[in-house]
Amino acid sequence: MNIPFERLDVTDSTNRVLKELALDGVQPPYAVCALRQTCGRGRMDRSFISPNGGIYVSFLFDYNNNLSLTAMAAVAVRRSILKVCGISCDIKWVNDLYYRGKKVCGILAEAVNDKVVLGIGINWAAEISDLPDVATTLGQSQVTANALIEELANQLYGPLDMWIEEYRAADMLLGKQIKIIQAGVETGCGVARGITPEGFLIVEEDGVEVVLSTGEVSVRTVE
Ligand code: BTN
Repeated sequence: MNIPFERLDVTDSTNRVLKELALDGVQPPYAVCALRQTCGRGRMDRSFISPNGGIYVSFLFDYNNNLSLTAMAAVAVRRSILKVCGISCDIKWVNDLYYRGKKVCGILAEAVNDKVVLGIGINWAAEISDLPDVATTLGQSQVTANALIEELANQLYGPLDMWIEEYRAADMLLGKQIKIIQAGVETGCGVARGITPEGFLIVEEDGVEVVLSTGEVSVRTVE
């Protein structure tokens, strides 16, 4: 799919740039990507380390009250990676992608007026030594980064059929003991029991099933 693209060498954050463009009137579909970010942003106000060799790209959407956007995006990225380099990633709720037990992709959705900026960071060809311990690289060639970005646009602006089935099949938390952490504080623990049709996480706590929506909740497997 051919969409308008702004390609930068270095920027602070592609999400920040695209939010500014949206405020200036840019309309979807539209994307901004960079080879490196100096101030990459993650969920829950964390930073996202963004060295050379990664893919840092933000896409603009109309806000349509679709609560599943971030969960759907995880499937779109997973499909793109599988198609372009044959690697099958796991999904850690809500929208992190893991490869061999370590994080290779993070996704951050941010609202701006009636639009949503969806930022995706993938450790595509980055050196492991440039990444935090919890992360790894997909070990791909920088030459293929553009093919991945094009496929992301196809998937994200396409129909993305059967996404929930794929999400469930790739759900790495299923059946695992997890801790629920809200705003940095442990608020509960239980066993992950799957994903609702909207992309929410079902957790069994003391024999009772509760549903966690997206937002300020993160989950860690108990060692
Ligand atoms: C997370 O893992 O918490 C989400 C990370 C999202 C990183 C991407 S990289 C492109 C876009 N620009 C940013 O500053 N953040 C997102």
